[in-house]
Amino acid sequence: MAKLIRNGTVVTAADQYQADVLIENGIISQIGLNLELECAEIIDAQGCYVFPGGVDPHTHLDMPFGGTVTADNFETGTKAAAFGGTTTIIDFCLTNKGVPLSESVQTWHNKAEGKAVIDYSFHLMIAEINDEVLAELPKMIHDEGITSLKVFMAYKNVFQADDGTLYRTLLEAKRHGALVMVHAENGDVIDYLIKEALDAGNKEPIYHALTRPSLIEGEATGRAAKLTALANSQLYVVHVTCEEAVQQIAEARNLGIDVWGETCPQYLMLDQTYLEKPDFEGAKYVWSPPLRPKEHQDALWTALKNGQLQTLGSDHCSFNFKGQKELGLGDFSKIPNGGPCIEDRFSILFSEGVLKGRITLNQFVDIVSTRSAKLFGLFPKKGTIAVGCDADIVIFDGNAARVISSDTHHMNVDYNPFEGLEITGEPVTVLSRGEYVIQNKKFVGTPGIGQFVKRKTYPSEPLQIKPKQDTVGQRGATHV
Ligand code: URP
Ligand code: ZN
Ligand code: ZN
Ligand code: ZN
Repeated sequence: MAKLIRNGTVVTAADQYQADVLIENGIISQIGLNLELECAEIIDAQGCYVFPGGVDPHTHLDMPFGGTVTADNFETGTKAAAFGGTTTIIDFCLTNKGVPLSESVQTWHNKAEGKAVIDYSFHLMIAEINDEVLAELPKMIHDEGITSLKVFMAYKNVFQADDGTLYRTLLEAKRHGALVMVHAENGDVIDYLIKEALDAGNKEPIYHALTRPSLIEGEATGRAAKLTALANSQLYVVHVTCEEAVQQIAEARNLGIDVWGETCPQYLMLDQTYLEKPDFEGAKYVWSPPLRPKEHQDALWTALKNGQLQTLGSDHCSFNFKGQKELGLGDFSKIPNGGPCIEDRFSILFSEGVLKGRITLNQFVDIVSTRSAKLFGLFPKKGTIAVGCDADIVIFDGNAARVISSDTHHMNVDYNPFEGLEITGEPVTVLSRGEYVIQNKKFVGTPGIGQFVKRKTYPSEPLQIKPKQDTVGQRGATHV
């Protein structure tokens, strides 16, 4: 049935205006004042913002990691995402050396199909480059629509790839139109520092942070950016936590290197002292890269404000405290890395970013939705409110005061890292392709209704940065 959203304030990355929005067949068909359609169901958005649904570029649902599997699957995770105002996620498809990429992708399709309540896509991890991978990659990118490749520079003996693999991935990505994503930490040095800490009897959660200093993240970020320049390719640095990494990204961008950066709510809001909480509670705050000393938070907010960082991912990777985080009792290196955030990403950025004057309302939409849609080939189907786009829409009460708590959240996990945080703003109604997923704060969606979205190759819009002719490396191969 057609739906007509009346009386709301439409906000995009560029505009803010009063208008009605008409939805027909899951698509936005008209935007304007005083729209009428007799048969349409009226949704009154008086006093609310009408935002494009959030695009979360970084989730880990139903993912084996650290000797266990993340607590949220594609049903619980996407349901929580929808409650929080997110209508598209891009999840990380893990791969294993020696296993065909197509098999790993099929595994991820099996995890999502029949479960997702919102639309989704996958990034593809690259563990190695060999003849088989080289033969399969064009198919993954062009036929499967998986146009982003992820390389881990950390997690030695688990996910970590070497620099040769990263470089060759960058070359292949340039050739076929994919965006390379990196987890930028120096895994070899971290491995040494962990062994050194454990040998010295330092086993508590805080040593997770102390064995992964920010300098090491900055070093890996700079290395990845330089390899990108050498390959004349394109790079997206996930979960940036610190000033050193921001500086490397800013420096690369100033040189015209095509580098983008994402941060996450946890790095904007929480700091390293959380890992010192007694009774092993610090384990709840173990992410990689780790939470940093508080002074880094200002650098991250400033970078979002001035465009040196462009997106916000949840890096949702939930593990229960009981039974999962506890795997690391007595050895911090065995604590599963990651935390829950898929539900709170959107509202935290609104409350802490817009309402505290750190970013504008248009920047909020750009960071939480539009920019990720553009970078990852989903735009304009996703990421904005315009005629012809999917009707993925959040009707958002910008005045609702609430407190984040695991007692009321919808993620399938027994704690919330933002427990007790007072925020303002809440999604009231969330539509995915014109269908209600959340209606008046109640879940009314259907598992399995979410569709896999094939994405466009990179870049799918004119780039905003122009590589200078005199920068290192003009070696990127042309597409064949
Ligand atoms: O600690 C984290 N970030 N866990 C998720 C996996 C990753 O590195 O993104
Ligand atoms: Zn190609
Ligand atoms: Zn990572
Ligand atoms: Zn992650």
